Amino acid sequence: MLKAKIAVLVSGGGTNLQAIIDAQHSGVIRSGEVVLVISNNANAYALTRAENAGIEHLYISKKELKTQEAFEDAIIAALEEREIDLIVLAGFMSILSERFTARFDHRILNVHPSLIPSFCGQGYYGLRVHEAALEKGVKVTGATVHFVNEIPDGGEIIAQKAVEILDGDTPEVLQKRVMEQAEWIILPQSVEKIAKQILDNR
Ligand code: GAR
Repeated sequence: MLKAKIAVLVSGGGTNLQAIIDAQHSGVIRSGEVVLVISNNANAYALTRAENAGIEHLYISKKELKTQEAFEDAIIAALEEREIDLIVLAGFMSILSERFTARFDHRILNVHPSLIPSFCGQGYYGLRVHEAALEKGVKVTGATVHFVNEIPDGGEIIAQKAVEILDGDTPEVLQKRVMEQAEWIILPQSVEKIAKQILDNR
């Protein structure tokens, strides 16, 4: 069966990448296949996960390429060479310019560890998001999958799932609960949904 070609962009541990790989094996993702993983961090464990799954993986260094433009051009070249249909930001900790996002309009997904529009935008990433939720004292948080446009965490929402905050939560404990109860569920589901739409529109 024909599948949408997916690239996953990562920076760290890659548990969301793993959830996508596992969802391909379990059949939750049937309409797409991850054919490329790109990391902007040479030491990201996500690269090891890609290696273990037999998926092509690249490290693209912003430091070596010096400018945002050159960094993005290197990513674009890698994506276009492989005719990628769908790009998934899974813990990718670098903001992409409008030049990049406009080129792949409605073709880039991101997972964010809060219920947007709470605790999102510039400066809200990773553990910082959960610290902010605990500082504010909200009782419910969650995760959001959305399309990526030029506004950080500002694109159209595809899926959200709420997660309870419990007394005594630390940012680390909360991060793990949000991943387990929300991110690792709604990200693969959203990838399937959009990959299927891409195939249906061909
Ligand atoms: C995840 O919680 C993801 O939602 C978050 O970083 C973590 C990456 O974990 N992303 C952002 O905060 C983006 N603004 P992972 O590398 O184990 O998937």
